[in-house]
Amino acid sequence: MSTQTVSVAAAAAKRVTTQTLQEMRAEGVPIAMLTAYDYTSARILDEAGVDVLLVGDSASNVMAGHETTLPITLDQMVYHAQCVVRGVGRALVVVDLPFGTYQGSSREALRSAIRVMKETGAHAIKIEGGQASIESIRRITEAGIPVMGHLGLTPQSIYKFGTYKVRAREEEEADELRQDIVLLEQAGCFGVVLEKIPASLAREATDSVSIPTIGIGAGQGCSGQVLVTHDLLGLTKDFNPRFVRRYADLAETITTAVQGYIADVRERDFPSEGESY
Ligand code: KIV
Repeated sequence: MSTQTVSVAAAAAKRVTTQTLQEMRAEGVPIAMLTAYDYTSARILDEAGVDVLLVGDSASNVMAGHETTLPITLDQMVYHAQCVVRGVGRALVVVDLPFGTYQGSSREALRSAIRVMKETGAHAIKIEGGQASIESIRRITEAGIPVMGHLGLTPQSIYKFGTYKVRAREEEEADELRQDIVLLEQAGCFGVVLEKIPASLAREATDSVSIPTIGIGAGQGCSGQVLVTHDLLGLTKDFNPRFVRRYADLAETITTAVQGYIADVRERDFPSEGESY
């Protein structure tokens, strides 16, 4: 057994911490992160061995059916995070601070982060943005709360971007990202999500810091990868960006199962005597 296999096996038995992620980056072991919003799924994903569960504000899209992540509230994020934490034994649970709960001031940001930590039992929070979020990130990390950053395509700014296209293709925006990732590390972030940026830039940004980077649509040069679980499982049929790899077609599986149930009910085949009292 190689040294790497031994340390990964040892890590698998223990609770994942921000320190574990740092070690995984140092050892070159890619970090697997997925989103979760409820107890049942969180339990399955955790037992499957995912390292980090993100209670993403993508709950606004996939759970609530909104077009953007902007409408979800802190109360709703707290509820989703509480459900996820109850299902998790090993993974690190990170919770998105939703739009409007940290941009006002670093004081507001700290209050929101403390609320998440106190009321949910989660282990860390995530905040979008570079330079503009630095003061808040510093204040939150100084209060002892681990913060994950998020650069590139930051969906809470969708109305500023006007499009979900790849970010930082132009040199000016790429330069800004290069500076932002260093600022995030200096402000105390334990990791950074890099969303929908050129793979070469993601690799360069990753190499410029010592904290782990987690890519989504950012190529192979990151320290780990994240996907929205509903996309990976084939539940979101009408969302097909290039960076999503579907590992199942649960929409099809569920449709077939439910149609089987409807047919059995109509034919009075369900419930059988064995399923009755
Ligand atoms: O909310 C979310 O799901 C995210 C991931 C896309 C990283 O922020």
